[in-house]
Amino acid sequence: LHTDLDPGSKKIKYILSGDGAGTIFQINDVTGDIHAIKRLDREEKAEYTLTAQAVDWETNKPLEPPSEFIIKVQDINDNAPEFLNGPYHATVPEMSILGTSVTNVTATDADDPVYGNSAKLVYSILEGQPYFSIEPETAIIKTALPNMDREAKEEYLVVIQAKDMGGHSGGLSGTTTLTVTLTDVNDNPPKFAQSLYHFSVPEDVVLGTAIGRVKANDQDVGENAQSSYDIIDGDGTALFEITSDAQAQDGIIRLRKPLDFETKKSYTLKVEAANVHIDPRFSSRGPFKDTATVKIVVEDADEPPVFSSPTYLLEVHENAALNSVIGQVTARDPDVTSSPIRFSIDRHTDLERQFNINADDGKITLATPLDRELSVWHNITIIATEIRNHSQISRVPVAIKVLDVNDNAPEFASEYEAFLCENGKPGQVIQTVSAMDKDDPKNGHYFLYSLLPEMVNNPNFTIKKNEDNSLSILAKHNGFNRQKQEVYLLPIIISDSGNPPLSSTSTLTIRVCGCSNDGVVQSCNVEAYVLPIGLSMGALIAILACIILLLVIVVLFVTLRRHKNEPLIIKDDEDVRENIIRYDDEGGGEEDTEAFDIATLQNPDGINGFLPRWGLPTQWWEERNPIQTACF
Ligand SMILES: *[C@@H]1O[C@H](CO)[C@@H](O)[C@H](O)[C@H]1NC(C)=O
Ligand SMILES: *[C@@H]1O[C@H](CO)[C@@H](O)[C@H](O)[C@H]1NC(C)=O
Repeated sequence: LHTDLDPGSKKIKYILSGDGAGTIFQINDVTGDIHAIKRLDREEKAEYTLTAQAVDWETNKPLEPPSEFIIKVQDINDNAPEFLNGPYHATVPEMSILGTSVTNVTATDADDPVYGNSAKLVYSILEGQPYFSIEPETAIIKTALPNMDREAKEEYLVVIQAKDMGGHSGGLSGTTTLTVTLTDVNDNPPKFAQSLYHFSVPEDVVLGTAIGRVKANDQDVGENAQSSYDIIDGDGTALFEITSDAQAQDGIIRLRKPLDFETKKSYTLKVEAANVHIDPRFSSRGPFKDTATVKIVVEDADEPPVFSSPTYLLEVHENAALNSVIGQVTARDPDVTSSPIRFSIDRHTDLERQFNINADDGKITLATPLDRELSVWHNITIIATEIRNHSQISRVPVAIKVLDVNDNAPEFASEYEAFLCENGKPGQVIQTVSAMDKDDPKNGHYFLYSLLPEMVNNPNFTIKKNEDNSLSILAKHNGFNRQKQEVYLLPIIISDSGNPPLSSTSTLTIRVCGCSNDGVVQSCNVEAYVLPIGLSMGALIAILACIILLLVIVVLFVTLRRHKNEPLIIKDDEDVRENIIRYDDEGGGEEDTEAFDIATLQNPDGINGFLPRWGLPTQWWEERNPIQTACF
């Protein structure tokens, strides 16, 4: 820097201030030359703003206003291009046409993009040819070969270079890598590993069981490898089905309907595997499916016997004779080596052993008499066992219905008690009775009532059958008198409508009573009333006395037991029992003076400590068993 001022005699001094003054830039205060005292980097700081001033050497007074100036750092190519985002990954579908864009990359150069070519980049591929190409300016990477096949090579490594100075020699360069993965397209059909599969299956296999798996391989991956399996032909299309297992990408053959070795021993199926997701671009390559043949051999299994019917219903009359045949069950062994079968009754279902079965021919016979009125149904289970293999067992329910036979006579429906008023009128209904019959005739009950033949002309009573099967008893005259006769017994014959009919005679007791004017019974003979079974008053009193005695004894027993707090058996119990056993000859009662030892009676302790021979049992019984003594 130089000032235009004439220095004259005064000496001038230059001063520098601002960006980097004194540290990066220095001024010679006499000559005004500015020097850089450090290395500059444009990429760090491209411009410096400084101020210079001329001052008087001695007084330091400014000689003119300060002047500002700028120092610009000029670029040189000192930075190589750099790929900041590398390494790169990209995908492109296999079988893409030539020139399909894959991705683009960018490198940056720190040098000045506007000055010179230091930042002018050109891209090229160092590795990865001839598969990929790059556009030199835009860095767009494209496929350079058509129809690249993922199944042949899936991954490619591409090395990309960026060079500055417009790619000319002397430029700086940087590289990066790009990994290109080919993605799958459905360009391969499924193909069965075998053209023929063999499976075997026992005939008794459970429906739905997997019998075998077939697999068509597909070189593609993911959904492009997915196939659906179908049975398209064969003689077992109705019995088998195939389901596709998307996970394992195979087909599972399952049983849909029961097999029978004895009917058909093998089946042939034609199965097809077809790709689910077809790419129309490749359909010209042929069908994306394949077929294979599956042979299934049915194996014989030992099967249990089969009854001719799943259930049996038998009917038998309740009066069927013992050992008569009620019915028959039949069963056969379905196996080729048909085994003979033995029958038995599951005794848990026939606890009363009502029936027997012929083990060979399955005929069921009656073992004990039947009674429909006790039980109508006998539901039993019959077991069939193969003789050659006892573990092959089948069971069948047999319901045996007992049919009614007229084997019960009708009788009064309840115990009727009839009262007849002394002041009753002739023709008055004394009582209405109905009958019941335990049998169950098809057309319902119809009862016939009659008086005993010798009573038909009974002067006192008559009977009249009602519509509803009941019977009314009517008085024939008035003037019945308790004093004359208290009770009348009227036997009535009731017969049913069975074939042959059964009948019984029930006797109606009619008691004559005193009644009010409007026919309300007021007084009857008590004894006759409470003792219809004909016990005397004496007998009744005896029974009552016994009951009271019994109660007293029970109370005594309990009290005694509490008091002694020990068992009621006397200590010399064994002695007493011994004595009783020893006296096996019968005493002759009070008249038996021979058996009565007067000497021992006088000395109650007895010679050997025994009680008197006659007196012991009586006394003992009276002591131990007063109830029985009294009541007997
Ligand atoms: C016995 O079987 C018959 C017919 O299946 C049925 O109607 C009846 O209720 C069964 N009886 C008993 C006691 O299980
Ligand atoms: C009818 O009643 C009279 C008395 O009232 C009696 O003597 C007679 O034995 C009765 N006849 C019959 C058949 O009960």
